[in-house]
Amino acid sequence: MIALVAMFAIYNVIVYTQGTSNSTPKMSEKALKGEQLYQENNCTACHQFYGLGGYLGPDLTNIISNKYKGPTYVNAFLNSGIKSMPQFNFTEEEKDALVQFLTEVDQTGYYPIKDAEKEANGWVRIKYKNQ
Ligand code: HEC
Repeated sequence: MIALVAMFAIYNVIVYTQGTSNSTPKMSEKALKGEQLYQENNCTACHQFYGLGGYLGPDLTNIISNKYKGPTYVNAFLNSGIKSMPQFNFTEEEKDALVQFLTEVDQTGYYPIKDAEKEANGWVRIKYKNQ
């Protein structure tokens, strides 16, 4: 019993004193402004990042690196209003910030992940950007 308690104590010290190795990527000021606009205008009610969000509109995780879409397309899309996407009245600066936000989100990874590899031990290795 004493051995178990000791092992538990050591385990706790190790778990709670070690830092994590993945540092959170920092966004630029402009992207943070874009994120704020994204939240204030409730884009997430209709759009998803990594499959999470509302499902009326498409997933926006990789829209910037999509070769048929990209920043110019997104910029033009924002104020146009189409079908069930409301028309916004963003200034050029606000559109820039939103595009910057989407660009930095895009740099974090791929969605959906098409070339995940299943390892022999059952883990799935996925591909990250900037690796
Ligand atoms: C009421 C729901 C709704 C809200 C809120 C909304 N959208 Fe949309 N959005 C849509 C729909 C639906 C489409 C698809 C329209 C189409 O292609 O006909 C779309 C399309 C888009 C596209 C083009 C996607 C593509 O793959 O072609 C972009 C970019 C976009 N929205 C960005 C935004 C941003 C940024 C916001 C917040 C400022 C926002 N949307 C808010 C519903 C919404």
